[in-house]
Amino acid sequence: MRVAGSQAQRNDVMLIAHLSDFHVCVDAPETSLVRPDAVDRARKVVADVAGFSPKLDAVMVTGDLTDGGTVQDYELFASVIAPIDAPVFVVPGNHDRREGLRAAFADRLPFGDRRFLNYEATCGAIRVIGLDTQIEGRIDGGLEPDTLDWLEERLSQPAEGHTYILMHHPPCPSGLAALDGMALTRGGDRFGELVRSYEGSLHILAGHLHRPYQTIWNGALATVGGSPAFQFALDLHPGATEPGTDDEPYFYFIYRLGHDGETVHTRPVSLQALKE
Ligand SMILES: [Fe+2]
Repeated sequence: MRVAGSQAQRNDVMLIAHLSDFHVCVDAPETSLVRPDAVDRARKVVADVAGFSPKLDAVMVTGDLTDGGTVQDYELFASVIAPIDAPVFVVPGNHDRREGLRAAFADRLPFGDRRFLNYEATCGAIRVIGLDTQIEGRIDGGLEPDTLDWLEERLSQPAEGHTYILMHHPPCPSGLAALDGMALTRGGDRFGELVRSYEGSLHILAGHLHRPYQTIWNGALATVGGSPAFQFALDLHPGATEPGTDDEPYFYFIYRLGHDGETVHTRPVSLQALKE
């Protein structure tokens, strides 16, 4: 599936925003840590994305779009991202619901009739592969054999350009001991083998940890986006068990992809005093 509307041919450079974990919801959130002004904060982030110049070519949102997964929650999410005039790619997080998300994005993303919300799409010069890591009822995530079989087939055909793999649960450890145990807990070894043996260029985008970081994992760049809904603190103590939160400045990633390579930029957004 080729997603229309990209400005990607401009000078052969693509600019891609990576957002994550908006957790917007109409009713009280499932997650007690979600800030009461999460929707306002998400709208402010989107306003920055929509107003960025030069115009962005694509926007990736790596899960936890909503914090309840109701039809109304996805309508709210759609209204939040409405100002973005670029293709938007999403994957489900542990707080999403497959059927609600499938229905909300059926006209934008080629989910097909598969049980898991995996898809492959083309946008300008890039290939986008969305992976469904949700394990219903659990915080941690996994890649089921069906998903890995499908991915193996997709990756057996290297793309001409860059491939972006979107997933909610990070496969790459952060070193945050209190959080890593709730990341990708199933299928990571086989996924790592597929990434390592891929013959093209690959970049993995994830979320879930509410804490931005970057690493090289099995030879591929992996970036994990932060969250405007709440952010965990940078606690690198090896024995940490209770993740604390921190109200430090928020930023999202912008990837600049050209013939001269890919560059990761951080874009801060001031989310303070929205209602004052
Ligand atoms: Fe989240």
